[in-house]
Amino acid sequence: MAKIKETFLVVVALVCFLYPAFAVKKEDLLFIKYHIHITNDLPSDLPPGVPYLELHCKSKTKDLGLKKMLRHDDYSWDTKINYWRTTLFFCNAFWEGKQRYFEAFKATRDEHRCRVYHNSCMWSVRDDGIYFSKDNSTWKNAYPW
Ligand SMILES: *[C@@H]1O[C@H](CO)[C@@H](O)[C@H](O)[C@H]1NC(C)=O
Repeated sequence: MAKIKETFLVVVALVCFLYPAFAVKKEDLLFIKYHIHITNDLPSDLPPGVPYLELHCKSKTKDLGLKKMLRHDDYSWDTKINYWRTTLFFCNAFWEGKQRYFEAFKATRDEHRCRVYHNSCMWSVRDDGIYFSKDNSTWKNAYPW
């Protein structure tokens, strides 16, 4: 009988003390402000001052509008992660008649990798695709055109 009571107390202790410890660890991520950067690194034959890359980014609840980008423009915004970690910002890029959909911030994919460098997700739009970097020095073509 004493054994059962002891076991029960241990289980209660685990649930009360250890579970919240894990929950808090996860919730820490909810207070972080993530920065999303998208840079226009496309080549251009157009005269300087002519915007030729267009970006349209949205989340399920926010429309960031159509953004016209000059060469080397950096477009950025911030977001936090919601409690259910369903935060998602997706964009369409338009360039020379081409269109590419990409996910600029997805909580479950980016919550850790975008903490590496100043809590930033960095994207670079190039002529062969949309590149991602978590450290602002190594780049990977994540969304070819
Ligand atoms: C990434 O590096 C470039 C070149 O050094 C710099 O201009 C830019 O500000 C950096 N990006 C971020 C988000 O810090």
